[in-house]
Amino acid sequence: MTDDLDDARVLLCRTATEAVNRTAQKLEAAVCAAVAARGHAAIALSGGSTPRPLYDLLATPAWKSRLPWQQLWVFFADERAVPHSSSESNGGTILRQLLVPNGVPMTQVNFMPTASFDIAGAASDYEATLRKKLGDPPRFDFVLLGLGDDGHTASLFPGSSVLAPTARLVLPSIAPHAATKQRLTLTATAINYAREVVFLVTGAAKRDAVHGTLAGPDVPARYPAQLIEPADGTLTWILDVAAAGVPPDAVGFASAETPPAA
Ligand code: 6PG
Repeated sequence: MTDDLDDARVLLCRTATEAVNRTAQKLEAAVCAAVAARGHAAIALSGGSTPRPLYDLLATPAWKSRLPWQQLWVFFADERAVPHSSSESNGGTILRQLLVPNGVPMTQVNFMPTASFDIAGAASDYEATLRKKLGDPPRFDFVLLGLGDDGHTASLFPGSSVLAPTARLVLPSIAPHAATKQRLTLTATAINYAREVVFLVTGAAKRDAVHGTLAGPDVPARYPAQLIEPADGTLTWILDVAAAGVPPDAVGFASAETPPAA
C-alpha cells in the first residue's frame, strides 16, 4: 500500500474476487448483528457493474443458507427514472439477481418510486418511507456504495446541488453524462446516519477517483464520496490493488490472508 492510501478505513485486496468475498463477509456480520439486536436488518444497496459479482455470490446456495434473508429490509442508494423491467433499473436488476432467488419477502423490498412523473414528490415519498420504517433519524444497518470514475457515489455527482448540506434524506438528481439522466438518490445526510457503510471499488478505471477521494485534498464538490463519513458508524473502503493503483505485493500479510471460505 502506498503512503497516501495508508488509511485505516481501507481494506486492500489482491483481487476483485477477494474484495467481493470480503464485502460479503462484512454484509453478513452487519446483518447478523442487526437481526440479533433488532430482529431485522435494514440494508441499502447500490447498482452499477461492480457489485454484480457480489450479488451473484450472495445468490449461491452457500450464501443463501448463510444469511437471514427473511429478516432483511431492503432499500436502495439510488435509482434511475426507468421501469423495473429495464436493465438500467437498480431495483429491478437487484430484484432479479438477488432478492427473488433468495426469497426476500417483497413486502420488505422498498423500491425508489422513480416511475412517478413527479420526481420531487417521489423523493419526498421515499423519505417518508425511510422515516416510517426506520424511525427518525432512519439508520441503515449496512449501506453498500460504489464509486464512479468521476468520483460520484450513489447519484451524488460532482458539482451537483444535492451535495449541499441538507436535512433531506432523498433528493432528485441529474447524472450529467449518463443516458438516463434523471435519478433519485439518498443524500449524504441519509447515508451518514448508517451504522456501517462499505464502498466496494475494483478495477484500474477507478484509480484516479480513489486517490482523489481518499488521498487528495478535501474537495467534495469534485469528489462527492468525500461527503460519506458516518457520524456514529463505521466506514470501510474495500479496494482491489487495481483500484488502489498498487502492485499485488503491496498487500500486507493481514489483508492478503485468504478469508474464511465463502
Ligand atoms: C448506480 C450507482 C452508482 C455506482 C457507480 C459505480 O446505480 O450506478 O449506484 O453510484 O455505484 O456509478 O458504478 P460501476 O460499478 O458501474 O462502475
